[in-house]
Amino acid sequence: MKYNFDRGFNHEIKDSLKWNTVKKISDKQDIVPMWIADMDFETVPEVKKAIIERATQGIYGYSEMKDEYFESLSEWTKKRYNWEIKKEWLCFSPGVVTGINLAIRALTHPGDRVLIQTPVYSPFFGAVTKSGCELVSSSLKLVNGKYKMDFDDLEEKLTDERTKIMVLCNPHNPVGRAWTRDELIKLGEICIKNNIIVISDEIHSDLVYKGYKYTPFASISKEFEQNSIICTAPSKTFNLAGLQSSNIIIPNENFRREYKIALENIEVSRLNVFGMVACETAYKYGESWLEELLDYLEENKELVKKRIENRIPKLKLIEPEATYLLWIDCSGLGLNDEELKKFMIEKAGILLNDGSSFGEEGKGFQRMNIACTKNTLEEALNRLEKAVNSI
Ligand SMILES: Cc1ncc(COP(=O)(O)O)c(C=O)c1O
Repeated sequence: MKYNFDRGFNHEIKDSLKWNTVKKISDKQDIVPMWIADMDFETVPEVKKAIIERATQGIYGYSEMKDEYFESLSEWTKKRYNWEIKKEWLCFSPGVVTGINLAIRALTHPGDRVLIQTPVYSPFFGAVTKSGCELVSSSLKLVNGKYKMDFDDLEEKLTDERTKIMVLCNPHNPVGRAWTRDELIKLGEICIKNNIIVISDEIHSDLVYKGYKYTPFASISKEFEQNSIICTAPSKTFNLAGLQSSNIIIPNENFRREYKIALENIEVSRLNVFGMVACETAYKYGESWLEELLDYLEENKELVKKRIENRIPKLKLIEPEATYLLWIDCSGLGLNDEELKKFMIEKAGILLNDGSSFGEEGKGFQRMNIACTKNTLEEALNRLEKAVNSI
């Protein structure tokens, strides 16, 4: 191994939301933070070096996206996913969530309907309702331990002519599915038939486990490309979320024009200079780091899986295909939402994300972030095992 993921979080860092939150919950008990989606690992060394070099220049005025930025991103998508993007398609946003909010505002009128598939990353709810749109939800179906799209329900809801957009999460947070090409084709065809624009949040695309594959929604066909907005970012992949940089890829000229007007309306006109440096460098030099990270996450995922299967039978892990966020069925504990949350913090001493924050369907579930060192993970699993088995 060239990189040391066992080194873990640098506690000299005082502004980490992930770690500060557990301190705020209790200054007596140490709680393991396994909630918000960032990693305890230091980023790609070349990224750190490039940021330091840029910082030493001392001038941080308004900056322009250089051609090298686009080249680095487009080489990444081409090499890893065989998806060719054009320079003019690339729009930006400080974050993917901001990008989704702006895209919905740009392409809907108040009162239009926007569909999401629940349980899902909670800011999707607000992105719809705060844009003045009506939220329509299609529940994912849990069939034999695997989440599936409910195509009958989708067909019905997307046929409603008040529905204009669907926000897809590909791969899906929190259920961990890397949607197959066939599933995406079936979904995309329903959307095209009913003039539904697809906003596809692909922020977790680089984090896929062995045996599974990420398919960029827009790469499937020219029609899909022209009917979608794809949101990617280096933030989850390379642990750069604090640098606020993302790529909003809009092949359709009309959608792009509307999106850019929405950006101008709120005077968001530039990317953060360090975010640009980090993004360009990560895609250019980060591949071997990512490959090792994926091996490490694979081992972490297996640790959780084995521990739950062998020693914590009251819990059930939904087999993750992608993301470092594991979706755990805790309904066997017989606790209500409030009790479950309290149990994880006070009895187990770990901070997870509450399943119900991802929608009604998440009741009884917890989401566990495993992007931490094996030591931290073992400690958390020991605590979890002890607490659950003492019920
Ligand atoms: C599906 C998904 N989209 C977006 C985000 C956040 O993206 P950003 O920080 O770029 O707004 C996250 C973070 O966890 C996420 O899981």
